[in-house]
Amino acid sequence: MSGEKEKSMVLKGMEEAEDADKKWEENPPSSPPLRHIIGEIVASQSWLDTLAGPIQNWLCSLYGEPGQTGRKIKDLLNGTWMGHALHPVLTDIPTGTWTATLLLDLVWLAEEHEDIARDSDLTLVLGLLGALGSAVTGATDWSDLEGANRRLGLMHGLLNGGIVVLNTTSLLMRKLGQRRAGVTLSSIAYGVLLFSAYLGGDLVFAKGIGVNHEAFEGGPDTFTPVMNVEDLVEGKLTRANAGSIPVVLLKQGNTIYAIGDICTHMGCSLAEGKVEDGVVQCPCHGSRFRMSDGSVVTSPAVYAEPRFAVQVRNGKIELRRLDQA
Ligand code: FES
Repeated sequence: MSGEKEKSMVLKGMEEAEDADKKWEENPPSSPPLRHIIGEIVASQSWLDTLAGPIQNWLCSLYGEPGQTGRKIKDLLNGTWMGHALHPVLTDIPTGTWTATLLLDLVWLAEEHEDIARDSDLTLVLGLLGALGSAVTGATDWSDLEGANRRLGLMHGLLNGGIVVLNTTSLLMRKLGQRRAGVTLSSIAYGVLLFSAYLGGDLVFAKGIGVNHEAFEGGPDTFTPVMNVEDLVEGKLTRANAGSIPVVLLKQGNTIYAIGDICTHMGCSLAEGKVEDGVVQCPCHGSRFRMSDGSVVTSPAVYAEPRFAVQVRNGKIELRRLDQA
């Protein structure tokens, strides 16, 4: 074996040993190269954590605890009221309008027509308004993130902040008669927007942030025994399995309730939370669900838990899933 080859094997072995010392959450995906490079960059930027901590603490104190006014505003911004995350709905506004700005600017560069310039400026302003709503809802979703996802989310937010600064400056330059310089700035902003959108998409599609964590769970279509009725203690959250799906049960008087156990927000076990007045609270970020029907009472969850019909037969509690995710 040549000296060079031997040296490279030793280095590779050292890298692997370093990786083995890390928690898996700290190791960026090894492939494909683009995701690996982005993951390495985010992992190396420890200043993001220094910045994220105080901002996150401030947001959490602003929104307060379930039941408080601030938390109701958080419900609104998370999208709990419509059963869908609000942030991705609003991000379509700046993305769409700034795409129109870019196209109109290209036409203007060819024709220098006054009407085209006016329409382009209008789409730029609409995008800035949409960006404001996207920023507020995005920061609200981000306030519940941890670890590498929190870093990635903050990087996404900072890039978006930079885009807003570039586009605001572009608008001012256009109004001051320096249209070509303004067009250059908004075009650069559009390039950054594409990269930032990639990061936001990575958080959702690769990391599962904002998706329904019950979406892939099944459940029995016919009544299936899950536990002995005598083992269910009055008022105590109890976890069981209905076929392949974990469920949480609660007995109140003569009634037994059962909903999905995996918190739709980020997958924590609801059975490890607490229950009050027939509402279960997730131990992780405080989402609350009604035991009687699985509906979301308090964000950050936006998706309801699956419901189960309950019957007792031959001393066994039997469950049947009622609705899809
Ligand atoms: S996992 Fe976040 S509130 Fe349940």
